[in-house]
Amino acid sequence: MNSWITTIVEWYNKNKRDLPWRKTQNPYHIWVSEIILQQTRIEQGINYYHKFIQRFPDINSLAYATLDDILLVWKGLGYYRRAIYMYETAQAIVNNRNGQFPNNYKDLLRLKGIGKYTASAIASICFDEKVAAIDGNVHRIFCRFYASNFNKNSLAFINQVHQDTLEAMSLVSPGIVNQAMMDFGALICKPIKPICHLCVVQNLCVAYKNNCIQHYPSKHKERTKEIIYHYYFFVHDNKQCYLYKRNENDIWKNLYEFPLFTSKTNNTSFLKVPFLHSLDVINSYESEIITHILSHKTIKATFYIVEVEAIKPLQNYTSIPLADLSKYPMSRLMEKFIEKSKIFQKF
Ligand code: ADE
Repeated sequence: MNSWITTIVEWYNKNKRDLPWRKTQNPYHIWVSEIILQQTRIEQGINYYHKFIQRFPDINSLAYATLDDILLVWKGLGYYRRAIYMYETAQAIVNNRNGQFPNNYKDLLRLKGIGKYTASAIASICFDEKVAAIDGNVHRIFCRFYASNFNKNSLAFINQVHQDTLEAMSLVSPGIVNQAMMDFGALICKPIKPICHLCVVQNLCVAYKNNCIQHYPSKHKERTKEIIYHYYFFVHDNKQCYLYKRNENDIWKNLYEFPLFTSKTNNTSFLKVPFLHSLDVINSYESEIITHILSHKTIKATFYIVEVEAIKPLQNYTSIPLADLSKYPMSRLMEKFIEKSKIFQKF
């Protein structure tokens, strides 16, 4: 008997999205697409995928690139650590595995930056291994289908997914089953306003039959995020400005930014910092606050635009020509300011 998931696969065969990485089973390409899609929506992901593959067409070209080159292509996607892990993983595959991608779930999982979901996606799509790629989509579909608020990490949930998915995978290629669930979750069983009248398993879906789709999965309150205040100093003399290359072990490691002072409170005692007093200021003004939301904290950023007589050498900071600003990989927050601020149009 066909399982409900094979019914979803039949729907997928008629309605699947035309995505560039679906034309290949090359693990390098699938890996790149999966990492990009962890970071952004499909529409934007497609552009980044093309850009990335064009610039780094195979694992060797990625392994032998410079980190700055990679970060530049990644620019705008945020969470640069993913790109750094890709670089390290490409080097590990080239140096230790003769450039050959691992061809099974267990070995894929050993690679830096590849978690269970990505390993399952690559193993099923490229090597036909019967492993379910379990993400928020799959969780939502199962919660609704069984009208059960499964805990994501519970054995009950994982076992149910394995049971139903493996049954379908014995009939259909595993990669197709996983991608069918991805498209079904994205197009029909959507987080908000699922399109139940177009759903091919509507008559089997317990939440639909009980008219209580909206209760699954249950929304628990998010913890309120910590707020951090960032004060950036765009100090320039109309020719050059200062940049700092972050070395802190956080999501922005290796990215460039204007000199920055941070505070847990909205106070400006940072104005006492010696850095500012060593400058011959001609004029200065401050930007509106830019709010930047990260998964674990919210940043409220103010940018001070400070024109000085001359950019002189300063310890810890590099001075760069203003015309070269776009050559430096930066956090999405820095990019937002540069895109918004009219002053950069004149340099
Ligand atoms: N989301 C994550 N991986 C995907 C894929 N291979 N196709 C579509 N959406 C995805």
